[in-house]
Amino acid sequence: MTKTLVWILVFLATFAALFFLQHLTKDDGTSSTVSGYMEGSDSVGVAGAGGSELVSQFGCLNCHGNDLAGTPAAPPLTGLSKYYDREGLITYLRNPDKNKTGARFDDYKTKYASGIMPAYGNKDLKDLGKIADYLLSK
Ligand code: HEC
Repeated sequence: MTKTLVWILVFLATFAALFFLQHLTKDDGTSSTVSGYMEGSDSVGVAGAGGSELVSQFGCLNCHGNDLAGTPAAPPLTGLSKYYDREGLITYLRNPDKNKTGARFDDYKTKYASGIMPAYGNKDLKDLGKIADYLLSK
């Protein structure tokens, strides 16, 4: 009888320990996900979004217009395939100041004097790729 009781106790203790351990690991997982989310909120927060959602989430539409047709602050984002391939557009988005291609940028300087095209070098390349695919189809 006492032997059985001991075994039951050992069993329960093991079970409790395992449960506790699992709980600990689970907590760890959750907190690292949370901090990962905070650090990389740009990339993690938009995981799964497509190009059309990303241009909205990244604020592109605020300057370039909801229909991409341009505003007094920024040029239209249609017909870009005339000027860029996928790589070229990603390169531009990551560092617009250093990748102005063509004479239209001279006009932009006066026409959209109030707007500044931000650099998106801190964004996930995959997201920029989705944006490039989306814009090049417009
Ligand atoms: C704060 C306003 C603003 C925001 C936000 C903005 N842009 Fe721009 N964008 C501009 C301006 C102004 C220009 C003109 C650039 C110049 O004169 O150098 C421009 C130029 C561009 C061009 C070059 C157009 C051409 O004819 O080659 C592309 C492509 C572009 N933006 C895409 C984007 C994308 C994609 C986003 C979001 C990820 C974005 N922009 C966000 C203001 C903005």
